[in-house]
Amino acid sequence: CGIVGYIGYDDSKEILLKGLEKLEYRGYDSAGIATLSDKDVYISKVKGRIAQLREAVDSNVKATLGIGHTRWATHGPPSQENAHPHQSQSGRFNIVHNGVIENYLEVRDEYLSNVELKSQTDTEIIVQLIEVLYNEMKDVAAAFRKAVELLKGSYAIALIDAEDEDTIYIAKNKSPLLVGLGDGFNVVASDSMAMLQVTDQYLELMDKETVLLRRESVEILKLDGSVVEEREPFTAELNESDIEKGTYPHFMLKEIDEQPLVLRRIIQEYQNEDNEIKLDPDVRQAMKDCDRIYIIAAGTSYHAGLIGKQFIEKFAKIPVEVHVASEFSYNMPLLSEKPLFVYISQSGETADSRAVLVQTKELGHPALTITNVPGSTLSREADYTLHLHAGPEIAVASTKAYTAQMAVLAILGVDTANAKGIDLAFDPMQELAIVANAMEAMADQKEVFEDLAHEFLETTRNCFFIGRSIDYYVGVEGALKLKEISYIQAEGFAGGELKHGTIALIEEETPVIALATQAAVNDSIRGNVQEVIARGANACVISMKGLEKDGDSFVLPKVHELLTPIVSVLPLQLISYYAALHRDCDVDKPRNLAKSVTVE
Ligand code: G6P
Repeated sequence: CGIVGYIGYDDSKEILLKGLEKLEYRGYDSAGIATLSDKDVYISKVKGRIAQLREAVDSNVKATLGIGHTRWATHGPPSQENAHPHQSQSGRFNIVHNGVIENYLEVRDEYLSNVELKSQTDTEIIVQLIEVLYNEMKDVAAAFRKAVELLKGSYAIALIDAEDEDTIYIAKNKSPLLVGLGDGFNVVASDSMAMLQVTDQYLELMDKETVLLRRESVEILKLDGSVVEEREPFTAELNESDIEKGTYPHFMLKEIDEQPLVLRRIIQEYQNEDNEIKLDPDVRQAMKDCDRIYIIAAGTSYHAGLIGKQFIEKFAKIPVEVHVASEFSYNMPLLSEKPLFVYISQSGETADSRAVLVQTKELGHPALTITNVPGSTLSREADYTLHLHAGPEIAVASTKAYTAQMAVLAILGVDTANAKGIDLAFDPMQELAIVANAMEAMADQKEVFEDLAHEFLETTRNCFFIGRSIDYYVGVEGALKLKEISYIQAEGFAGGELKHGTIALIEEETPVIALATQAAVNDSIRGNVQEVIARGANACVISMKGLEKDGDSFVLPKVHELLTPIVSVLPLQLISYYAALHRDCDVDKPRNLAKSVTVE
C-alpha cells in the first residue's frame, strides 16, 4: 500500500492524487483521500485505480490539508468500504495505514466492545482506538501515541483530526514512511517518488517514532513523548523524467530497453580509473571473512540469487545457499560458523526479507543488502549496501533490476576471488560490456519476439520453460514473468526433470520454451526438446551462438558462458510482454500484485 499526506496553503487534492499515481505500483485495488476544511472532512473512496478516484473526487472541494492511500488488500477484500481513509465512530478522526496490525483482534476485544465497526480492516481498529483513548485522555497527540504503543505489527500511519486544521499525525514501525520538507508546506509519503512533484528534501523516520506535521514545522517524538532534536534531511536523487514513461506505451517496455544502459552504468560505478573493481573495502573484507553465504530474497530477486550463487561459488569458491525469505524465518537451516547474509531486494522494503534481517541481526551475523534503493529499510539496517544503479523501476514485473542484480553479483564474485588471490582469466567489466551490446542488439529486434509470442502463446492456457544448469534458473524467471503479466500458467523446469512427472501435461501444441546456452548440456537439453516434441509440444528453442541448430527460434549473440543469464532473459521478458499485450492485460499493473510488498 502507499500513503501520502499534505499540509500547506495550496489545495491538497491534486497533490494527493498525483502522489498516489506515483505510488500506485505499491498496490492498486482501491484508493481514497480525506481532506479537511472548516472542520468539514471530505472523503472520497473507490474500489479500483487512482484514475477512478480522480473521477470520483469532487473538484469543488478545496482544502489545504489531506491524506491519501492506495491499497493492496490484506485484511478484507478490495471494496469501497475497506478502502482507506477509515473514520472513527464520531467521524472526527480519519486515518490511512500501510502494514499489518497483528494484535488487532485483541485490541478490538479489549478496547472497542462498544464500537460498531464499519469495515473488516485492521486499520479501522487503529482509528477507533484513537478515539476511545482520546475520550479518556482529552489530548489528541497523547492518545495517538498511546494507541500506537498498543499496536503490534507493522504500520505507517497518517491521521487527521476534524477539530485541528494545523496537524497531520504520523507514526511508523517497520513500514516505510518519509516526511518531505517544503517552504510553507510539509508532506508525508511512503517514498520520495510520490512527492518529488513538490520537494526533493526528505527526513527519514525511525521505527516507533511519531511526527506532528504542521505547515511550518515538523516535530518528531518518540512514543514516550520525548522530542527527537536533530534529524538532517537528505536530498532524493531522482529525476522526474526517470519516473515518467516518456514515449513508451508501458514502463515495462521502457525498463527492458534500459537494461544495456543500466549495465554500462554499473560498469562505470564499480570501476576505478585504473580499470580495477571499485567496491566498499568493508564488503570485500566481509566476503573474505565468511565461510558461507546465505542469500535471502523474494520473487524475481530470489531468481537473481540463484544465478548469483553460481557466480560466487565459481569465482570466489565460497559455498552459497539461496533461500526464499518467507520460508527462512521459521525454517532456518543449520548455519555455518561464519555466515554472511546477503539480502537481494529491488525495493529494499520487502517485509519477508526484512523479517529475516531482523532475526539474523539479533543472532549477530553480518548482513549485506544489494538493492536499487540505497536509503531503503533493508539498506539502512544491514551492515553494508551495494547499489544496483538501475534507476526507479516502476512496472510491477521486475526486469532491469533483475539484470542489474546479476551484474552486481558477478562483480562481487570476481572481486572476492581477486581479494582471495584466486587467479581468474575473466575481466567482468569487459564481459559485461559485451553483454550490454548484445542486449542492445536484441532489444532492437522487438518484432521478432512479438512474432514468437504470437506463434507460441496466442491461445495457450499454459507454457513450460526448460533449461539445464544456469539456463534452468533463467527459465524459472521466464515463467514467473509470463505468469505475472499474461496470466498464462507457466512453470520452469530443469530439462532432465520434466520427464519425471510434468511431461504428463504436454499435449498437442503445448508451448515449451527451451534455453540452450551452455555447451556442456547442449546435447542433453536438445534431447529433452525432442522428448516434448514427440508428445506434440510446440517447442521454441532459444540458443547461444555457436550452439545453435536448424529450427531454433532465436539465436542469442555470443557472450561469456557464465553471463548468459543476463542475455537470455531479455527474449523471455519481451515474449512475456507481447503475450500480455495480445491478451489485453494491464502490463504494468497486473492483477492481485504489488511491486513493493511491505507485509509478511
Ligand atoms: C513483489 C514483486 C516482485 C518482486 C518481489 C521482491 O512480489 O511483485 O516483482 O520480485 O516483490 O521484491 P524486492 O523489491 O524485494 O526485490
